[in-house]
Amino acid sequence: MIDLRSDTVTRPTAAMLAAMSTADTGDDVYGEDPTVSALEERVAALLGHEAGLFTVSGSLANVLGVRSLVAPGQELLCEERAHVVRAELGAHAATQGVTTRTWAHPRGHVDLDAVRRLMTPDAGPYLVSTKAVAVENTHNFAGGTVQPLDALRELRALVDPVGVRLHLDGARLWNAHVATGVALADYGRLFDTVSVCLSKGLGAPVGSVLVGPAAAIAEARVWRKRLGAGWRQAGVLAAAGLHALDHHVERLADDHAHARLIAEAVAAVDPSAVDLAAVETNVVILDVGDRAAALVERAAAEGVLTGTVGPGLVRLITHLDVTTDDAKRAAEVLAALLGD
Ligand SMILES: Cc1ncc(COP(=O)(O)O)c(C=O)c1O
Repeated sequence: MIDLRSDTVTRPTAAMLAAMSTADTGDDVYGEDPTVSALEERVAALLGHEAGLFTVSGSLANVLGVRSLVAPGQELLCEERAHVVRAELGAHAATQGVTTRTWAHPRGHVDLDAVRRLMTPDAGPYLVSTKAVAVENTHNFAGGTVQPLDALRELRALVDPVGVRLHLDGARLWNAHVATGVALADYGRLFDTVSVCLSKGLGAPVGSVLVGPAAAIAEARVWRKRLGAGWRQAGVLAAAGLHALDHHVERLADDHAHARLIAEAVAAVDPSAVDLAAVETNVVILDVGDRAAALVERAAAEGVLTGTVGPGLVRLITHLDVTTDDAKRAAEVLAALLGD
């Protein structure tokens, strides 16, 4: 099976398993796991932040990051298909009392006019006060799209004078970095808190890191434990993350080339099914209307697993376990089915 449902489906490589099995460990709740600490320090430095916190998931890193910026009963703004508002099962509301309002953008980009219009930084006793804006880079459900750096800089300049803060859901920030050549820290420094995932394109089995100011991360450490997610000899998992940082960042360019190869094969038979300009990283969204369910089913019968992400929308994500031959085969299968 060629599994294009998500880049979360990768299995640890033999070299990664070897790194995990020799990791130096300790009790991380006591702050004594040297491998976890090394990972946290390394990711914080890469993103231009003071401190980091290793978490079990990207969702938890987002919850902890957003809660450090937005108090119960206050508001977070984000794009309408952002993972924080669509795919974290209401965690920000259910566990932290955070309310959200959204804007819509075809590529999931920051919309400065919408933020300007929606933002009510200090709304007094009658309306909800906006305390933060969350940005997703790359944007998963919009098709792995990259946020334009200039717009992010303008967003910072827009919110700073009114004291509104910024959280970056950078689950796939590595992909944005490789696609654009923009340094991770140049993205990271524009935000108050940043979450990044090790378990997606980087191919680690588990884990994300939240970075931010030392005081916010110290508080996030307390909340992580409070939510039942403190962990002990997690160095075996952090070692996978460190290995991924050493070996799996630059190779994301291969995933991007594979996504493009598939998108171009589809466009050649059905140009209306894919917006090639929107294929910037490792995600391809096919807009195939009422053919979506049948396409997913028939592709699976041909050994290519995909998934739907909205009415008529089929998503494919390339990753570490998809070879060039796999990408070519997937392209062939999808083009044949859509050309039918
Ligand atoms: C953009 C984005 N943010 C956050 C997450 C959450 O990561 P996790 O599944 O580790 O909770 C995902 C997961 O796919 C994602 O795509």
